[in-house]
Amino acid sequence: MDNRPIGVFDSGLGGLTVIRELEHVLPHENLIYFGDTGRVPYGTKGNDTIMKYAEQIVRFLRGFDVKAILIACGTVSSVAFDVVSALAEVPVYGVVEPAARSAVEKSSQGDILILGTSATVRSGSYEKAIKRLNPDAVVRSGACPLFVPLVENDHFSKDDVLADMVAHEYLDTFLNRGVDTVILGCTHYPILRPLIAGIMGESVALVDAGSEMADTAAVSLEVRGLLSDRKDIGKQNFYVSDYSEDFTRLAGVLLEHSLAGYVEKTDIEKY
Ligand code: DGL
Repeated sequence: MDNRPIGVFDSGLGGLTVIRELEHVLPHENLIYFGDTGRVPYGTKGNDTIMKYAEQIVRFLRGFDVKAILIACGTVSSVAFDVVSALAEVPVYGVVEPAARSAVEKSSQGDILILGTSATVRSGSYEKAIKRLNPDAVVRSGACPLFVPLVENDHFSKDDVLADMVAHEYLDTFLNRGVDTVILGCTHYPILRPLIAGIMGESVALVDAGSEMADTAAVSLEVRGLLSDRKDIGKQNFYVSDYSEDFTRLAGVLLEHSLAGYVEKTDIEKY
């Protein structure tokens, strides 16, 4: 048993969708969340910058004596997983492997579409992970750079005209081509799930990468004897690199309830 906190981080507030999943699968764990709200988005940045940012965040989280680190961000999981693992000195979980495994299991014909940020798609991370599991899989990918700002500006409901138009722009080219499974490979995309599901059609399975990672981490931490023996609900503390103007509203959208812990601003450049 280990009552130390789990560190979770993201390029911004999108990783709160993973906190929401962790509340279900690991309700007794204390969580330390870092969101790099001052430097988001990562998805349009180069690999060196993403790796440098990830290193700084790991150094910051290590200061809390975390027992594991969960990379909620699809972009960091894709570009900097090895960098984070090398520095962390505790078990590290990213979203790519768990999502790839689930997609291969769910896919009836082995035809899988990955949706993510430009950096995620460029990295080929999901494709490599899927091909390791099923060399015969047909893997397609589409960068959806406008999905993040749409969600952050409240355009995500199934009947939102703007979101619908953008989603069709990204997804129409993949319709009726045999895709049977779609990986939502970015923190914000689960919020668009009803819209994406509506366009792709009922027969297409959707895989939420963050949720798959939360499930994988829960099982793995148990096997490693690293779960807490606490009986009450775990505490959550949030750290950000900037307070955006509409921080509280956006946190509520992504977490689907209001923040339950205190929020503190930190100077991440120091780490
Ligand atoms: N959190 C990022 C991801 O999951 C999306 C936002 C960004 O581009 O930083 O890839």
